[in-house]
Amino acid sequence: MTAIKLCVAGATGRMGSTLIKEAVVKGFRIVGAVAAGDDPNINKTLREAGICDLDIRIVDPSRIPDAVKDADVYISFTNPEAEIVNIPLVAELGKRIVMGTTGFTEEQMRRISEVVSNKVPAVFSPNFAIGINILLKLLQMVRAFPADYEVSIIEMHHSGKRDAPSGTAKRMGEIISQVKGYTSIIYGREGLSLRKPGELEILSVRAGGVPGIHEVIIAGPHEMIRIEHTAFSRSVFAQGALYAAEWVYKQDKPGIYTMDDVLGLV
Ligand SMILES: NC(=O)c1ccc[n+]([C@@H]2O[C@H](COP(=O)([O-])OP(=O)(O)OC[C@H]3O[C@@H](n4cnc5c(N)ncnc54)[C@H](OP(=O)(O)O)[C@@H]3O)[C@@H](O)[C@H]2O)c1
Repeated sequence: MTAIKLCVAGATGRMGSTLIKEAVVKGFRIVGAVAAGDDPNINKTLREAGICDLDIRIVDPSRIPDAVKDADVYISFTNPEAEIVNIPLVAELGKRIVMGTTGFTEEQMRRISEVVSNKVPAVFSPNFAIGINILLKLLQMVRAFPADYEVSIIEMHHSGKRDAPSGTAKRMGEIISQVKGYTSIIYGREGLSLRKPGELEILSVRAGGVPGIHEVIIAGPHEMIRIEHTAFSRSVFAQGALYAAEWVYKQDKPGIYTMDDVLGLV
C-alpha cells in the first residue's frame, strides 16, 4: 500500500508532536508541518525540534499552501482562532482534513462547517479515542432509567488545557440532556445549591499532566453506576486520528464526518 502523506498543524504541540511520532511508526509519510507564527521552532526541521528523525521544515501558517501541496490529508490539533483561518484555506486548496481541536463557539463551528462541507471530505471529532466514541453510543441506554435517576459528568485534564468543559464532556452532555430531558447545565456548585429538576451537572478538574478522564455517574435513590474512560496517554487520540486519516483518504464525497462514520457506528 502507498503511504498516506500527511501535513500536521500544531506540529510542536502536545497532540501534534505525539501524532507525528505515531504516524512515523505506523508508516505514514509526513510531508508538511505547521506551527504558530511565533513558535520558536519555526524554520527548524522536525529533527532539530526534537520531534522525530525527519528533515521536514516547520513553517508558519502563511506557508500552509506550500506545506499541504504534497499531502493527502491535513491533520490539525491547534486552537479555535487558528482553525477558523487555516481550515477554510486548506478546504479551498482541496485537501482532505482531520481536525481534533476543541473549544469552538457554535458560531465558529458553523462558519468552518459551512466552508468545508461542500469542498472536501473532513472528519471533525472532539475525541478520537475509539473507547470514548463507543461509550457515547452506550449513553443512549440511559433513557431506560426511571426519571428519578440523575446523571452527572466529571472530566479531568492536564492544567494546560484551555477550554472547559472538554468537547467530549459537552457531547456527552448533549446526549444525556436529550435522553433525560434536561434543560439546563450547571458547571459547579458553591454555597446553598440544591440540584434542581431538569439540571445536568458537568464538572471540570484541571490538574497535573492527566491526558483525559471522563466519568458518567448515574445515581438512583438506592444504587449508582459509574462509567469511566481513562486515556493512558495522548497516543490513543493520535491513533484514532490516524485511523480517521486512513478513512477520509478513501472518501470522495465532500462533507463533515465524525468518528461514528469512521467506526461504522451510524
Ligand atoms: N480530538 C481529540 O481527540 C483531542 C485530544 C487531545 C487534545 N485535543 C485538542 O487539540 C487541541 C490542541 O491540544 P494540545 O494539548 O496539543 O495543545 P498545545 O500543546 O497547546 O498545541 C497546540 C499547538 O497549536 C499551535 N498553533 C497555535 N496557533 C497556530 C496556528 N495559527 N497554526 C498552526 N499551529 C498553531 C501551537 O503553537 P504555539 O505553542 O507556538 O502557540 C501549539 O503547538 C486542543 O483544542 C485540545 O482540546 C483533541
